[in-house]
Amino acid sequence: MRKNILLLLIAFSAGSLFAQSRWTTEEEEKAIDALISEMTLLEKIGQMTLFTSDWDQTGPTLREGYQEDIRGGRTGAIFNAHTADYNRELQRMAIEETRLGIPLIFGYDVIHGYRTIFPIPLGEAASWNTTLAEETARIAAREAAAAGLHWTFAPMVDVARDPRWGRVMEGNGEDVFLGKAMTEAKVKGYQGEDLSDPFTLVACAKHYAAYGAAQAGRDYHTVDISERSLRETYLPPFKTALDAGVGTFMTSFNEVDGQPASGNYHLLTEILRDEWGFEGFVVTDYTSINEMVPHGIVANDADAGELAVNAGVDMDMQGAVYYNYLEKKVAEDKVKLAKIDQAVRQILRIKYALGLFEDPYRYNDMDRQATNIFTVDHRATARAAARESLVLLKNENNALPLAKSIRQLAVVGPLAESQEDMLGAWHADGRARDCVSLLTGIQAALGQTTKISYTPGVSVEGDDETGIPAALAAAKLADAVVVVVGEKWTMSGEAASRTSITLPGKQAELISQLHQTGKPIIVVLLNGRPLDLSNIIDHSDAILEAWYPGSEGGHAVADILFGDYVPVGKLPMTFPRSVGQVPIFYNMKNTGRPFDAGNKYTSKYLDESNDPLFPFGFGLSYTTFNYETPTVTKAASEGDFTATFSVKVTNTGKRLGREVVQLYVHDLVGSVTRPLRELKGFQLVDLAAGESKTVEFTLSKEELSFLRRDMTWGMEPGTFDVYIGGDSRATQKVSFEY
Ligand code: GLC
Repeated sequence: MRKNILLLLIAFSAGSLFAQSRWTTEEEEKAIDALISEMTLLEKIGQMTLFTSDWDQTGPTLREGYQEDIRGGRTGAIFNAHTADYNRELQRMAIEETRLGIPLIFGYDVIHGYRTIFPIPLGEAASWNTTLAEETARIAAREAAAAGLHWTFAPMVDVARDPRWGRVMEGNGEDVFLGKAMTEAKVKGYQGEDLSDPFTLVACAKHYAAYGAAQAGRDYHTVDISERSLRETYLPPFKTALDAGVGTFMTSFNEVDGQPASGNYHLLTEILRDEWGFEGFVVTDYTSINEMVPHGIVANDADAGELAVNAGVDMDMQGAVYYNYLEKKVAEDKVKLAKIDQAVRQILRIKYALGLFEDPYRYNDMDRQATNIFTVDHRATARAAARESLVLLKNENNALPLAKSIRQLAVVGPLAESQEDMLGAWHADGRARDCVSLLTGIQAALGQTTKISYTPGVSVEGDDETGIPAALAAAKLADAVVVVVGEKWTMSGEAASRTSITLPGKQAELISQLHQTGKPIIVVLLNGRPLDLSNIIDHSDAILEAWYPGSEGGHAVADILFGDYVPVGKLPMTFPRSVGQVPIFYNMKNTGRPFDAGNKYTSKYLDESNDPLFPFGFGLSYTTFNYETPTVTKAASEGDFTATFSVKVTNTGKRLGREVVQLYVHDLVGSVTRPLRELKGFQLVDLAAGESKTVEFTLSKEELSFLRRDMTWGMEPGTFDVYIGGDSRATQKVSFEY
């Protein structure tokens, strides 16, 4: 026996003489070779099978008997199971009760926190603060890893430009550049420097690919885009995730170019493996292999499994297709054993990288779990992240900040005292009872001297207006009114598209009647998508976008409302005037008939302007900033080209503030048409009242390159206009020639 094993080791060491990956050493690759050589086909298929526990449900099906599958070596991965002790017992089954004792990997949707909940990702993107975004991911990983988890199904990096789609809440908004910056921060935050660190998680770039381009904003709908759009807009954040070292990818539900992502060889092998050199593993989304039958690309589950594994899917989430049919497909020579072995290798690599073969229980420490979750420090970071996610959209008549000495304050609205709606969708182990509601935050910020009343007025949905008179009565007695309205947290996230993006129910009517009292009306929004605010904007003195701000949301909103902190957020996604404008985003093209008010035959609507209500990158402060005309200096060096832009920014107000200085490029002429503006740089600049700073950006050929007509990346000669300012409508311009 020993001689055979020895011969095997020698044989395999030759076979994988130079095999190693970014996560494994040569020795570990040899160990993987030896292990694969001992595994039966069913045990290999088990490693390619992911099942949900019955602890949580995140998709359309559950199945009985996952624990028997663990014991039988028929599954190597479990999701929706957590806590150090619960997962330890499941891990024990795999280690002690299976033939080879291969450790399980435990995954969960830790999207914006595990127990300490941070703002939804769209809100975090509004902070433009990648350092903070990395820190919140690091904390989320710390808490989840202490709770027995190894793998998060995050970051969701889908670029999205249609607010009807409920999952815009889960991503980084409409822009590629900002999306890439946030993606890199998140992967680094979750994975840290060493995946074997028991306070880190392996991350998962999802949903590969172009899920955000679903037609009509309807979840799971068809995606029909050009290869150019795919590569220019939807793939770049995934490539950023790969370059940042992400260990796994998740396929999307949608088709791309007529082929569902889970069976799309072009996406999964030609691009991800051959072009990009990805060495981790690919998991599908929930039963998305099975769903290739209703997609109509295969006739049955067995064929779906064949298509998926041959396209490059390593692990089947919850579909049990590999579980049920792969052995037969191998026997029929429809699937090669080498393909199976490659998938298993890619999965085992990540388990090795997590240190699970060294110590399968390293994430199951009860003491760590008791001392690393929902700590005071974590909540302080959650409050800071929530503050920086808030976007001040309107502030007239100096409505904000409110004085803490205010005599009487009326708090109105159906969401003011909600704790669960601070969480937002995908809140993992976040608990409503842990959350600080807006009413509680306001009460905590104001002393006993202020009389605070609360009346809901209306509910979020429904036509009942009977509560409005009480709200009006409270408003008439107050010096100001804070109205907390928006969407229930269940109205965005997965399977939560809306055809209307206005405030649901009678919330706008409530605001309209409150406005008639003549009191200052401050609207605070809790919502998971850009809303059409055109029917409340004229009835509001101030509008503060709060998204779903997380566990400490109430305190964070109060910090801004009463001026303890200044608002710094900038929109990561355009707010339309009407859903009829959708898709609408800042970096659109000029067309051959750009809008001209004096010419009928130009690109416009009869009943609405082309402009959004609030543009990408927009957000007010409690101070003001002035931008002088930028300057540019060019330098050509060793075939490269750089352009350095300088701009003087001054805080022209009376309070300190932070400005997100944004740089947009317009490449006037190209071998294909070019967007009117493209974000190519941003910097967070803190300025005291009256203070000026010169801000510099340097762009190289790389940043000025694009997918040319021949589908190669490169920069083309011509004139470039560069705009620098506080949002995507920046007017301060400098041009240069290349
Ligand atoms: C869901 C989501 C995906 C999530 C997975 C596991 O359907 O589409 O984002 O990670 O299933 O919960």
